[in-house]
Order: sequence, then structure tokens, then C-alpha cells
Amino acid sequence: MRDLEGRVAIISGGSSGIGAALARAFARERVRVALLARREGPLRALAQELAAQGVEVLPIPTDVTQEEAVQAAVDRTVDRWGRLDIVVANAGQYVRKPVTAWTVEDFQRSCAVNFYGALHLVLAALPVLRRQREGHIVLMSSLDAKKGLPLDGPYVAAKYALSGIGGVMRQELRDEGIDVTVVYPGRVDTPMIANLKVPWISPKLPPEKVARAVLKAIRKRKAEVIVPWTGYLLYLDLLAPRLADYLVKKLGLSGEPHPASGPTHPPEAENGTHR
Ligand SMILES: NC(=O)c1ccc[n+]([C@@H]2O[C@H](COP(=O)([O-])OP(=O)(O)OC[C@H]3O[C@@H](n4cnc5c(N)ncnc54)[C@H](OP(=O)(O)O)[C@@H]3O)[C@@H](O)[C@H]2O)c1
Repeated sequence: MRDLEGRVAIISGGSSGIGAALARAFARERVRVALLARREGPLRALAQELAAQGVEVLPIPTDVTQEEAVQAAVDRTVDRWGRLDIVVANAGQYVRKPVTAWTVEDFQRSCAVNFYGALHLVLAALPVLRRQREGHIVLMSSLDAKKGLPLDGPYVAAKYALSGIGGVMRQELRDEGIDVTVVYPGRVDTPMIANLKVPWISPKLPPEKVARAVLKAIRKRKAEVIVPWTGYLLYLDLLAPRLADYLVKKLGLSGEPHPASGPTHPPEAENGTHR
């Protein structure tokens, strides 16, 4: 098991939800953290909170859809601390729409953050990790990339792509001393799904639970993390997809409201991430 104290991490989507919970969890381990997100206010508030605990934090307002901005954020982190050990591509956006209303733009918008945003961070950090011959990349996917739920098309496309390259990277980078973990959370209680009602079988998890699972995965160099454990039931989809479809419908796993009935995210977030 690896000791994390003194390591340097960079987290995209560090201003809220899972990213913020992970930053707090890293801080407890005395990991130095660079936090990336677009909204400067929440980013700086979290940085102040962690700095007050004696942890070195670097808030860097960044839009992950902008490749050059992400490169600049990685450069700043390495300039500041001289190295980079843990890269968490976590920034995300929930873009859902029924297939009958899909547009190409829905997919471009989802992929811009959920896929290319993560790719920008990975590509910017990779030369540093390769030079060190050491490092850990964490990709925040979703259980939606084990079985895509109805209404989640644009989100599912991006998360499947992300999980797919995670598996490729893990195999190619193993001999370079770089580990790759793909994380598949179920529903998590964050602003991203604040307005989504979920069935009893898939309750919203506290983001801290995902953060703890990620920390454990980094320590143990795990290839995959599925939280909660009931997510493993989705492997049923490999053997019996129609049975899995039936259960998804029967159990109401897609949640409510239907996206055509209005935004699933809080009105105050309409201009932010949470569309
Ligand atoms: N909540 C769930 O049920 C759930 C389930 C499975 C997987 N996930 C995944 O977990 C990750 C974190 O989501 P969350 O649940 O913690 O949601 P959240 O609280 O809404 O956090 C999303 C984070 O992404 C950042 N972000 C969004 N667009 C960005 C952009 N263009 N550039 C930089 N940062 C951006 C947001 O910051 P700014 O708005 O300040 O930019 C925010 O910090 C996402 O990848 C999500 O897909 C969530």
C-alpha cells in the first residue's frame, strides 16, 4: 500500500461534489492539491478551507474544454511543486435527452467536458508522469458506462469513450510505472443530479464515499472502482441485456423527471455546469 503524504495531485472539477470531497480527502492525507474548475468563487473558498488546515493548495480557474488552458494549469502545478503524482480527470456535465430529441450538438457539448476535457488533462500531464516514471491517473466515469440508462445518451457516449481509453492507457502505461484507475460511481448526491429523483434501489451516495473509494484505489493501484457494490449487478448486461433492460425499467433506474419536462438541475446552476 502506497503512502500518499507529500504527493502532488491535480483535480479537475474541484469546485463541487465529488472533486471537492476528493480534495478534502487528499488534504487529510497531506497531499498537495491543484484544483481546477471554471467558477473561481467556490474554488477559492475550498482552497482557503484546506489551506487553513495547513495543506498547500493551488486553485487554478480553468475551463477543461480549452486544451491550452489545461496545459497551462498543469505547467503551473509542476512549476509550483516540481512534480505531479496523481491526476484526477473528474470535471463533468450531465447532458441527458431522449433519443427522439437528440442533436449532434448535445453530444458535442457532453463530449467537450466529459471526454475531451479529461483527455486534455491526461495529455498535458502524461509527459510529466512519464519523465518521473511514476504516477497515477484517475478517470471519473459513471455506472452509465457499464450499462447506459435510457435518456442519458449524450452523457453515456462520452463516459463509455472515457472508460474505453482508460483500459487502453492502463495496459500501455503499466511498464512506464503509471497506474490508471477508472471510477464508476452510481448516483451521487451532488448538484449535478440535485433535481433527479432516484428509486430506493439506487439511492444517492454521499460524495465522500466515492472519495474514500478513490483514495483506496490509488493506494492499492486498482484498475476499476465501482461504488456502490450493487453496481456490479450491471455486469448482468453482458450476459443478458434484455433482462437487464427489463430490470432497469421495472426498477425505474433512469430516475425522474423526464428530461423533456424541464431541466434536471437546479435553476441557480443553469448558467454553470449543471445543464
Ligand atoms: N453525481 C452523480 O450522480 C455522478 C455519478 C457518476 C459519475 N459522476 C461524475 O462525477 C464527476 C463529478 O461530478 P459531481 O457529481 O461531483 O458533479 P458536480 O458537483 O456538478 O461537479 C462537477 C464539477 O465539474 C466542473 N466542471 C464542469 N464543467 C467544467 C468545465 N468546462 N471546465 C472545468 N470544470 C468543469 C464543475 O465546476 P465549475 O462549474 O466551477 O466549472 C464542478 O466542479 C463528473 O465527471 C460526473 O460525470 C457523477
